[in-house]
Amino acid sequence: LKHFLTIEGLPPLLLEEILDRAEQFVTLPNKQQKKAPLLRGKTVMNLFFENSTRTRVTFEIAAQRLGADVTNLDIRTSSASKGETLLDTVRNLEAMNADMFVVRHEHAGAAHFIARYCAPHISVLNAGDGRHSHPTQAMLDMFTIRQKKGSFQPLKVAIVGDVLHSRVARSQIHALTTLATGEVRVVAPKTLVPAGIEKMGVNVFHHMEEGIEDVDVVIMLRLQRERMQTALLPSEREFFKLYGLTEARLKHAKPDAIVMHPGPINRGVEIDSRVADGMQSVILEQVTNGIAVRMAVMSMIMGPQGGAA
Ligand code: CP
Repeated sequence: LKHFLTIEGLPPLLLEEILDRAEQFVTLPNKQQKKAPLLRGKTVMNLFFENSTRTRVTFEIAAQRLGADVTNLDIRTSSASKGETLLDTVRNLEAMNADMFVVRHEHAGAAHFIARYCAPHISVLNAGDGRHSHPTQAMLDMFTIRQKKGSFQPLKVAIVGDVLHSRVARSQIHALTTLATGEVRVVAPKTLVPAGIEKMGVNVFHHMEEGIEDVDVVIMLRLQRERMQTALLPSEREFFKLYGLTEARLKHAKPDAIVMHPGPINRGVEIDSRVADGMQSVILEQVTNGIAVRMAVMSMIMGPQGGAA
């Protein structure tokens, strides 16, 4: 593994290897992540051209726990605002001896672009590009599902909300189908479902109660207003009435169903606080698992046996 840019096309064995390796960084029963100096002497640079709380901080913690030197470039105060191109920014960071770029960008394909044109010894991790892909988020979600439910094969998983604008949903669908999940459902209004999504191996539902009936996992998504054209903007109140996850609605899922959300959550828009903070919610466990999963991916790419493929 040289770069980690997308889940699409990766073989199931590789996804399982990431999950297995992430297990090794988690100490049970307190689920604290172990330190492992596999990246000592390496320099990881976080390049976040779009805002982030969970992804940026957990990448930083993961790199530190692996013994790497970590730098966070603050794009708002960087010379990108003076007209420096993305590639020139990359060239200058290469001159500071970067070994890995963790890239988030509003434009789909930005991490691929950097991976294509950066120096050959550098690895690139995609931390979210436009609506396209957020592969480490999907892997931490898979890790959380496996931790809570064991095998993927018997599971019914519903992804609910603004699928059209969600890079997380795309990566989750690729991961869930690659791992042979029993059924993957998408539950959303017609205006928030990408055309032809059935070809990705999902079943589409437009009624919330029907879509989450008897599922094992409910994954809620926020309305990505920053990526919507004004004409598509649904009213928050209307959206919550039709698709908001309330305690009453959650009763349609299996009694032991888990509730997930990649964050940030918008309380009272896609999820009621009593569900977000309730017994079935694993939302904050997802965040914690992000550290171990990112440690796993980074160490597979740059650790002693990394970088081969
Ligand atoms: N899930 C996620 O990507 O959250 P952030 O935008 O806070 O990184």
